[in-house]
Amino acid sequence: MFKLRIVNRKYAQSILTMLRNKETPQIDFRKGLVRLGRILGFEIIEDYEYEELDVETPLGVSVRGLRVKDLDNTIIITVLRAAWPLTEGLIKVFYLAKMGVVAARRVEEKGMRNYEFDIDVSYVKLPRMINDSIVIISDVMVATGSTILKVLEEIAEHGKPKRYYIASVIATPIAVEKLQKYADSRSIDLRMLTISIDPEINDKGYIVPGLGDAGDRAFGS
Ligand code: URA
Repeated sequence: MFKLRIVNRKYAQSILTMLRNKETPQIDFRKGLVRLGRILGFEIIEDYEYEELDVETPLGVSVRGLRVKDLDNTIIITVLRAAWPLTEGLIKVFYLAKMGVVAARRVEEKGMRNYEFDIDVSYVKLPRMINDSIVIISDVMVATGSTILKVLEEIAEHGKPKRYYIASVIATPIAVEKLQKYADSRSIDLRMLTISIDPEINDKGYIVPGLGDAGDRAFGS
């Protein structure tokens, strides 16, 4: 099963506009990604199951509330390096999450062929995964989908979580189509959230209009 959710909220869209602006300084760019991570976290948590419970307030009154389930079964996987600030926002919401990292690099020297890159994975460290795990992959720009597909394959070697999320800022129709096919062919529950779907990928693999190189802009390199 594959589901795409575009987060069309005014606040999220205004932050994205600031990120797209080439005049936005590095610190504002990085902080913008942190804010978007938090917004994506709020959206994702709406899917989580909850149980009702009663608590007593300091006024001696009992009131019915809720407790969100599975917060301690959540694993956030950061695709280094641009997703680091996005993850910082996500953990504000998923404060009990376990953390994993994947360092994956598009082999740009070899170029893009038919909207695909070779992906060089140089480091993977993932927590133990159980059937109840919910995995959130944090990746800012999902252009061709090559990196995310590689990350999904790495995760599959560590177990079969009950649900996957991709928390992204900009994705493309090409990536969405590939991810849909991947989820359907493996019968996994994959839900993708993004702030925008941009129409094009240029011959260097950058999303257009996009926001440029997210890692360079967030870290000032
Ligand atoms: N990674 C980026 O940082 N930007 C793009 O446009 C595509 C991939």
